[in-house]
Amino acid sequence: MTTELRPQPRPGVMEIDAYVPGKSHAPAGVAKVHKLSANENPLGPSPKAVEAVRAIADRLELYPDGSSTRLRETIASVHGLNAANVMAFNGSDEAIALMARTYLRDGDEAIYSEHGFLAYPIYIRAAGATPVVAGETDERADVDAILAAVTPKTKAVFLANPNNPTGTYLPFGEIRRLHAALRPGTCCSSSTPPTPNSCAATTTKRASSSSPVPPTSS
Ligand SMILES: Cc1ncc(COP(=O)(O)O)c(C=O)c1O
Repeated sequence: MTTELRPQPRPGVMEIDAYVPGKSHAPAGVAKVHKLSANENPLGPSPKAVEAVRAIADRLELYPDGSSTRLRETIASVHGLNAANVMAFNGSDEAIALMARTYLRDGDEAIYSEHGFLAYPIYIRAAGATPVVAGETDERADVDAILAAVTPKTKAVFLANPNNPTGTYLPFGEIRRLHAALRPGTCCSSSTPPTPNSCAATTTKRASSSSPVPPTSS
């Protein structure tokens, strides 16, 4: 089979740079390591989560409820939300990837900030769109720079808050200002709770140890 006859990936996929995870080793002699380079929780998993995983371990042959109905209803009741507006994913990475696939198409642009989460350009390219980098100020996302990078092709803005890997944080007022200034219909994904009417979706990244696809050993 010649190269031309092989299945070809969609444009952009071969330009994806693999995700580079944070350091996973400490210098010799360090007794205890708290790995925080991917926003992991230094306190470890909740004992209740550990207990729940153990309890299900002997029933792994069964498919789970793909709609996560009970989980979404419980989250909704605890936070006073409509369960139809709660999404459940295998990590926020899956949510970000789905949002990119759903809202971006060939020829679109999506903005992320200079030192932003490295998975964003991966998912933007995988969706056939062009990642556009907005400069930062003092290694902090800059709302004015993001807004200056908007063009008629911009369909999404991805912003991690607090950011990985820099750990910098934008006050909520800045996130509101960004939402308010974006064209209606622009998908804005941030890890800060959204304003009621501006953001198509929000992902929450608080305490997790997994890395973006492809899985790594970080
Ligand atoms: C900003 C940010 N978003 C999303 C993720 C993905 O997290 P997970 O899929 O484990 O929820 C990470 C992981 O490091 C992250 O730092």
